Amino acid sequence: MKLELPNSAKNWFSIAGFMIAVVSFSMIVFLFVISTFFSGTHIYLGLIIYIILPMVMIAGLIMVPIGMFWARKHRQASGSELPVLDLNLRQHRNALFIFLVGTTILVFSSAVGSYEAYHYTESVSFCGQVCHQVMQPEFESYQHSSHARVACAECHIGSGADWYVKAKISGLHQVYAVLLDTFPRPIPTPITNLRPARETCEQCHWPKKFYPREERLEQYFLGDEENSQWDVMLSMKVGPVHKSSGFSEGIHWHVDPNNKVEYIYTDERRQEIPWVRYTNLKTGEVTVYSASDSLREIEPAADAANLRTMDCLDCHNRPAHDYKSPRYFINHAISEGSIPKELPGIKALAREICEEEISSSDSIYSFIKSRIDSFYNEEYPEIAEENPGLIRKATEGLYEAYRVNIFPDMKARWDAYPNNIGHLEFNGCFRCHDDGHTDSAGETISRDCNVCHLIKVQGNENAYQTASAFEGLKFVHPGDEVDEEDWQEGLCTDCHTGTDP
Ligand code: HEC
Ligand code: HEC
Ligand code: HEC
Ligand code: HEC
Ligand code: HEC
Ligand code: HEC
Repeated sequence: MKLELPNSAKNWFSIAGFMIAVVSFSMIVFLFVISTFFSGTHIYLGLIIYIILPMVMIAGLIMVPIGMFWARKHRQASGSELPVLDLNLRQHRNALFIFLVGTTILVFSSAVGSYEAYHYTESVSFCGQVCHQVMQPEFESYQHSSHARVACAECHIGSGADWYVKAKISGLHQVYAVLLDTFPRPIPTPITNLRPARETCEQCHWPKKFYPREERLEQYFLGDEENSQWDVMLSMKVGPVHKSSGFSEGIHWHVDPNNKVEYIYTDERRQEIPWVRYTNLKTGEVTVYSASDSLREIEPAADAANLRTMDCLDCHNRPAHDYKSPRYFINHAISEGSIPKELPGIKALAREICEEEISSSDSIYSFIKSRIDSFYNEEYPEIAEENPGLIRKATEGLYEAYRVNIFPDMKARWDAYPNNIGHLEFNGCFRCHDDGHTDSAGETISRDCNVCHLIKVQGNENAYQTASAFEGLKFVHPGDEVDEEDWQEGLCTDCHTGTDP
């Protein structure tokens, strides 16, 4: 049987378009079946099935009418007349039939396809793994966070169609930047359009549900030859406690529905905060704290670009992508035993190694190995001779910790992404709690060491100081290099950078 079609359809452009559409449609069906029967991680398969092939198919389908239009124009050079549909002609009936059947299949499959595409483009593997090199730091740190089972989209994309569209538009822009290799390294933070909002976090955590106290034990290993240990146990005042003496709200006071804390920042990363306004929403009382008297008088416009109302993200800005500082990850590797504490001076050496910037992720291992080997060959030849296993273990241990926290290719590391929880390596809480912001009565935003946490235990196995039940100890700075005035007067960040010390 010969299928008769309008003459205008018999042109090479339309035929080619039609063939492209048919071939890509069959490939979609074929790959879809494969991906359903053989489960596993199909990172790129999804990209092909739900995004690339449908685009090719649609391009093919668009070629058909374009070809027909050209062919008609060509044939009747005179006319601008519209095509005529005559159902008495067999060609026209065939064309109509193909059009209707084709459209039905297309509508049906695009319904299924867009549903799948929706899920696929919201999936963790799409967000985290397709552009592997670009997202590797965020993906790797995410997998080591408490949120490893919370999908990227759950934090980054709010619910509702407007968020979906916003995310896809921003996504298109990103694909473009990756293809042209114009994306910045490190990826800038804070992000503006897909930044999680307070509501996002409150789907799973809400202020009423916080624990009153959370215990933290930190084990430090100092930079001396013995890698001397020093422990600190802090009781974090996370939530409210009801004491007979009164009511103390603790750290989450800032997000109590009755309180509103606003601030003005002067740098993009919001590390400099010269002005803070607290409004008690119940009584209407307003207190302004600022770094100087003249600043206290300013009255920012409600929509000023650098005025922010404090929310979860002002403290928890790295809940899923926390690149730990070398000081922190080396301490942890020593305390879990993956870097042997017996190796003299390993803490100081490891810190020094991490301080240097290296150019590519591929050279991390060889760089660490050569530095550790040459140090022990020169300084402790007897260890290199008799106990090479210890040195190998330290190399492996440091490599494993380095690899998931420092990403040379993307220039992603702790100092590129300040973490606002705490005050040791970034000012974090001390951006406001520095005893330098005063209100009109001269009261400051307190940096008393026992406002946010109680120091319950400090010292080492030779001598531990322990606090009584509801009290905190007076802080003793580890090591013997630092005087009391040093840490009491300045900020911790005056000395602490993450590597030195
Ligand atoms: C628990 C919530 C949460 C989850 C889950 C999450 N993120 Fe994030 N992400 C954040 C926050 C918060 C920021 C920092 C926002 C800011 O400071 O503006 C961020 C920042 C980013 C940035 C900007 C660069 C940077 O590091 O600051 C990228 C890229 C990113 N996330 C990708 C991902 C990917 C990919 C996934 C999934 C593999 C993911 N995120 C999962 C909360 C989350
Ligand atoms: C889909 C649910 C979900 C969402 C959304 C979510 N989290 Fe979590 N979060 C969890 C789970 C699960 C844990 C781990 C269990 C635990 O530690 O209680 C966790 C743990 C935490 C912890 C304690 C552990 C840590 O890493 O210090 C913090 C802080 C936290 N989340 C903050 C946030 C912030 C901030 C946001 C918003 C950007 C957020 N979460 C969004 C589910 C969620
Ligand atoms: C003023 C800074 C600050 C703000 C604002 C803040 N947090 Fe926290 N949050 C902390 C600190 C500090 C801890 C103690 C954790 C630690 O030691 O790392 C904590 C602990 C937590 C924990 C783990 C402990 C627990 O009880 O489950 C969760 C979850 C959490 N915060 C979620 C939130 C959410 C959600 C918001 C916003 C509604 C928020 N936080 C606002 C500073 C803050
Ligand atoms: C934008 C400024 C700002 C930042 C950043 C900030 N705070 Fe505050 N905080 C305030 C103000 C203002 C007060 C109220 C004045 C006061 O009590 O000293 C306050 C009060 C507190 C209180 C006492 C609450 C009570 O029970 O009355 C605690 C605890 C606290 N903050 C912990 C923290 C911690 C922990 C961080 C860092 C994770 C932090 N704050 C970061 C502004 C800030
Ligand atoms: C405004 C609240 C606040 C004040 C005031 C405060 N801290 Fe902290 N501090 C924190 C928070 C929050 C952390 C937890 C950081 C984290 O979760 O990594 C912390 C952590 C620490 C740690 C452990 C650091 C680490 O990363 O191992 C020490 C030690 C410490 N504080 C000492 C002090 C001393 C000493 C003072 C007084 C000069 C002080 N703090 C005042 C909020 C505060
Ligand atoms: C004058 C500089 C200086 C100031 C200010 C300072 N430190 Fe230190 N800190 C040091 C030095 C140096 C070491 C390293 C001691 C060593 O390794 O032998 C150190 C080590 C530490 C350690 C052990 C860290 C580790 O992993 O080995 C902690 C914890 C610490 N400091 C807390 C603080 C806190 C909290 C503050 C702020 C309240 C602070 N320091 C302010 C110089 C300082």
